[in-house]
Amino acid sequence: MKALRFHQYGGPEVLRFDEDAPVPEPGDGQVQVKVSGAGVNPVDWKLRQGYLEGFFPLELPATVAWEFSGTISKLGPGVTQFAVGDEVYGHSHYGTTAEYTVASVEGVALKPFSMDLPDAAAIPLACSTAYQALFDVANLHAGQRVFIQAAAGGVGTYAIQLAKWAGAYVIGTASAKNHHLLKELGCDEVIDYRTTAYETVVKDVDVVLESVGGDENMAKSLSILKPGGILVSISSPEPTEAAEAQGKRAAYLFMKQNSAQLTIIANLVQDLKIRPVIDAVVPYREAIDAQNECQAGHVVGKLVVDVRR
Ligand SMILES: NC(=O)c1ccc[n+]([C@@H]2O[C@H](COP(=O)([O-])OP(=O)(O)OC[C@H]3O[C@@H](n4cnc5c(N)ncnc54)[C@H](OP(=O)(O)O)[C@@H]3O)[C@@H](O)[C@H]2O)c1
Repeated sequence: MKALRFHQYGGPEVLRFDEDAPVPEPGDGQVQVKVSGAGVNPVDWKLRQGYLEGFFPLELPATVAWEFSGTISKLGPGVTQFAVGDEVYGHSHYGTTAEYTVASVEGVALKPFSMDLPDAAAIPLACSTAYQALFDVANLHAGQRVFIQAAAGGVGTYAIQLAKWAGAYVIGTASAKNHHLLKELGCDEVIDYRTTAYETVVKDVDVVLESVGGDENMAKSLSILKPGGILVSISSPEPTEAAEAQGKRAAYLFMKQNSAQLTIIANLVQDLKIRPVIDAVVPYREAIDAQNECQAGHVVGKLVVDVRR
């Protein structure tokens, strides 16, 4: 099968577009999926560069990307909750920018029926991350104030909508060209991080969803929390001691595969409570360009690679 792979850690130059890779066979508790779409995420280039090698050592050659939409083509031993032909979406550490992938059933669910293949690949990783950060870690509820960094990105565009769905007051950062989108998604206040130091205009928030990272930024994000508030970092290590010293909390989240949560998310999409923001769906031959665009850091919402064309 065709697959976008790399044989060594490194920059975009290690990506190989025209690889002929073996079709993966599903093991116990896994399904094989004929991939339609592969979602592009920053974790793709962070893994490829070797930045996450200590946590996720890859078996090389590795196939690029961790989320997919597609059709189940084979069931592994013990799988009873899905059938061949089901249209699904989810997470796979096997790599998804390929004709086929395999995934554990814990990371797979039926895709929202209101969304086409391959577009549903824009949902699993970013939306699960936003959901887990806001609800599983921060326990966000109605009436609270939440501050969302990089609100125009994959995680941010879902986080705005999920927080509004929960009844929170939402403040987000983005460059000026994306302010209209943030407002449309429900953001109550929008800050241009290029012209305004957010820590000078925001205060007393209950929750910070911190995706920009770095020590200086963590300190600023902590400063805008009210006592007892929580900073949820998805980028750099959380500033636990500094938070405790100020009577606040800090936590780090690494998104976990959760099939039941993917079903909740599919229902939210079907019920029009949230909508994926898709920057572009590009053909497989442009998969390397999509990786580079993601690494440049200014995708609006999500990029999806249509591996069928
Ligand atoms: N721990 C986890 O489980 C987990 C899961 C998912 C993502 N992440 C991490 O979370 C981060 C965000 O992920 P993502 O998928 O949302 O990324 P993304 O979609 O690539 O983010 C792109 C967005 O970031 C905005 N941006 C860039 N620099 C910014 C800054 N200094 N301040 C505010 N906004 C800025 C851009 O907006 P403008 O064009 O308006 O500048 C752009 O829309 C990444 O570091 C990623 O690795 C972690």
